[in-house]
Amino acid sequence: MVKKILLLLISGIVLSGCSARKQTTHLDPIIEKKIDSLMELMTLEEKIGQLNQLSGMGELTGPSIATSDYAQLIRQGLLGSMLNVNGAKATRQLQEIAVNESRLKIPLLFGYDVIHGYKTIFPIPLGEAASFDLEAIEQAARIAATEATAAGQHWAFAPMVDIARDPRWGRVMEGAGEDPYYGSLVAKARVRGFQGKNLADKNTLAACAKHFVAYGAAMAGRDYNTVDISDRTLQEVYLPPFKAAVDEGVATFMVAFNELNGTPMSAHRGLNVDLLKNTWGFEGFMVSDWGSVGEMIPHGYCATPEEAALAGFKAGVDMDMESRLYVNHLKNLVEKGLVSEKEINDAVRRILRIKYRLGLFDDPFRYCDTAYEKEMLLNPRHLEFARISACKSMVLLKNQGILPLSREMRSLALIGPMADNQQDMLGTWQGQGEARHVVTLLNGIKEKLPNTRILYAKGCDFTGNDRSGFAEAINAARSADAIIVAAGESAMMSGEALCRTNLDLPGVQKDLIRELNKLGKPLVVVLFNGRPLTIEWLDQEVPAILEAWLPGTMGGSAVADILFGDYNPSGKLPMTFPRNVGQIPLFYYHKNTGRPTNDAVRYTSRYIDSPSTPLYPFGYGLSYTTFEISAPELSATSIGQNDSLVVSVKVKNTGTRKGSELVQMYVQDKFGSVTRPVRELKGFKRVELEPGQETVVKFTLRVSDLAFYTADMTFKAEPGDFVVYVGSDSNTQLQAGFSLKP
Ligand code: BGC
Repeated sequence: MVKKILLLLISGIVLSGCSARKQTTHLDPIIEKKIDSLMELMTLEEKIGQLNQLSGMGELTGPSIATSDYAQLIRQGLLGSMLNVNGAKATRQLQEIAVNESRLKIPLLFGYDVIHGYKTIFPIPLGEAASFDLEAIEQAARIAATEATAAGQHWAFAPMVDIARDPRWGRVMEGAGEDPYYGSLVAKARVRGFQGKNLADKNTLAACAKHFVAYGAAMAGRDYNTVDISDRTLQEVYLPPFKAAVDEGVATFMVAFNELNGTPMSAHRGLNVDLLKNTWGFEGFMVSDWGSVGEMIPHGYCATPEEAALAGFKAGVDMDMESRLYVNHLKNLVEKGLVSEKEINDAVRRILRIKYRLGLFDDPFRYCDTAYEKEMLLNPRHLEFARISACKSMVLLKNQGILPLSREMRSLALIGPMADNQQDMLGTWQGQGEARHVVTLLNGIKEKLPNTRILYAKGCDFTGNDRSGFAEAINAARSADAIIVAAGESAMMSGEALCRTNLDLPGVQKDLIRELNKLGKPLVVVLFNGRPLTIEWLDQEVPAILEAWLPGTMGGSAVADILFGDYNPSGKLPMTFPRNVGQIPLFYYHKNTGRPTNDAVRYTSRYIDSPSTPLYPFGYGLSYTTFEISAPELSATSIGQNDSLVVSVKVKNTGTRKGSELVQMYVQDKFGSVTRPVRELKGFKRVELEPGQETVVKFTLRVSDLAFYTADMTFKAEPGDFVVYVGSDSNTQLQAGFSLKP
């Protein structure tokens, strides 16, 4: 045991060496004073109680509350926080026990997975990220917070800011995709949205940056699996969104389930304490993931529950979600002298700080107002924004002149397992969203085209081999002017513990689409899924594909808006779509190698049975209009260490519709003290143009934008040659070069 503590401390020392500058603190002296006074009154047991979090799982809404184990723990001051208790009424009942029946009247903190909405459900976060619209992402989180707080919640277990480069991993749907620069901006936007300007406002939720860290690098894309990556990759790819969340003032962190290079994150003092708390200056608290402290036993890191409690606590995990190990063992550990009361105080202080900042001590029932709850949940303004947000999230992958469809059609066939489906539109993290409130695609289209005959047939399920519905679907399609197929993955095929080894359309959907396509009619496939799919065959065979993700409550209306031209698609992929599973991991931000990929040349880095290129690259997405982007012009060809560079391109709408283009800027550092990726996203701007209209888009590139962890792990820009790429996706070849002087 002692040996392990020593090891924890050593790992801390090593890692703190490669971290960024120390932050200054922003503690509120009045709150800190109040915490001091309160802690003076607390017994050791009551302090440990604040570190304990248990799940309600909904069963606490009935009359059993007063007699439950939980109620007893709350009365005794042995439970500081609960998750999965929903509604103003249920949270009020428990809060009443805490503030009326416990000795010190410390309010409970209620947390919940508010991942992409509370009652009004927005597109899955990967879909929202495809909007590349930070204001819209922030606004969706703001609405989610408004609804969740009205229903008694104080704390969202979001944003999930894990960079994800392996689409087999089911949790790619919860994040912002593969890029650390963009992922950091999205992390900030979501934190701003949840937390608003002041945590003490009635409609703001404490946010939680999760899962710290490198969870997205799970080996083979299998959830909870081992992570083994270099310190450099950790620093450059996986840590930045977490740092961004701290810079934005995120209130809490959640530790990841995975081990990192041999140490479970729940025991990683180097990252959780030395880097996050001491170097980055994070003043909030860190919660474990569900039972992750106890899981250090199966990890093979701790032999007993007591050892696990010790390792987790020493490694900066302040609150124990669901394993009950802190409440069962910490007192003993203090008595044995292995944990000091000073250390306990630090964890308690962090948790009380957030409770004070949320205003819970001023009014513990401020979030428990059933009338306000009724007014806020599914408020029409929220639903309207969910529709806009879903429109913004959708990515047009292919269009051979078919879309938008004409409203004048006499009949339209709508086929597929997602066509009249409410439940799966919500995704797995559906919060309190209910299927009955979801607008299906069938209803969205009927509302849009009241005079068109809509011939609906499911055709087949998402999975299984049943082809018995094919005949009905083909018949319907035969008598229609055009065919829309709503295909994809069910909600339960992406999310936590929902990883796949085959990323094609599951079941017999492929066969159904092929049969329908034989009819030779205009055919559009609308894809609903939680991750990039391997659909090269689809791209080759059908004339139009729209990526709709899992679009949430208003999904059907939004897809109809796009299909019939009321909204011109503008989303871009935040994650690369590979051609096949064998190419994974495949992402734009890769190294060149000594034998750069050239599919036509034998001894280069390539495959013999597949192109090496993606099916659709990061940043890709079409519009109903077309844009022409000029080669970038630079304000200088050489800049000094204190200069900045202005990169300008002309963008022209060369099509016949108004539309918006996301102009993206990437930079390559050609030679470094360590090799650099072939390109890195460094900026993006959206422009909206009328047909024929042209504008100039300018980006400013600062020397700090060129910085990276050099060979000796200092974060700085190295003099030398750079290439700037600007274009409509990460594969753009429009470029200009410049150099940075010493
Ligand atoms: C997930 C977390 C989630 C927690 C609470 C865990 O299984 O990994 O992301 O916040 O459960 O529901």
